[in-house]
Amino acid sequence: MAKSIVVYYSWAGHAKEMAQALASQTGADLAELRPALPYSKDYGQVVRRAKEEILQGTRPDLLPPLPDLTPYDRVDVGAPIWCGTMAPPLASFLALQTWEGKRVFPFCTHGGGGKGRREQNIRALCAGAQVAEMFSAREGDAAAALQALKAWGAASGREG
Ligand SMILES: Cc1cc2nc3c(=O)[nH]c(=O)nc-3n(C[C@H](O)[C@H](O)[C@H](O)COP(=O)(O)O)c2cc1C
Repeated sequence: MAKSIVVYYSWAGHAKEMAQALASQTGADLAELRPALPYSKDYGQVVRRAKEEILQGTRPDLLPPLPDLTPYDRVDVGAPIWCGTMAPPLASFLALQTWEGKRVFPFCTHGGGGKGRREQNIRALCAGAQVAEMFSAREGDAAAALQALKAWGAASGREG
């Protein structure tokens, strides 16, 4: 049977909620990414650091252990949209992996701006993988988002 894992980063908990729902629906393993230098709890400070990292292409270090993707055929990857793309800890993780032969299912939460450039950025970092269309959910309507996420998780062929 195909083995799958949900790997996520979340700052304020929305992407975490999505990741947990997805994993519990499908029986996938679950792994949280944690930056070695945590982001401030202060919104203004996070925005400043995020802008700088994204502009400069900085990839923050992550705390070990990172999940070993070797046994997994399918990898769901999720994080909030920051400044129109994925939050940098997810970019750090994606850049460290070898993607040949994997199926990648990206998802994100956002504050109203939509997926931004995130989808193409994920495709670029997951070279060699088969990357599904991204699921995106606007925060604030968790119940509807979870429903839609479940439909996406089921329709995207967890077993196949
Ligand atoms: C640093 C930062 C940058 C953000 N940039 C965007 C953005 O460009 N577009 C958008 O729609 N939402 C943006 N948001 C809002 C988040 O995407 C949204 O709150 C998300 O659901 C948070 O997920 P989390 O609770 O897992 O951290 C930003 C939030 C932060 C903290």
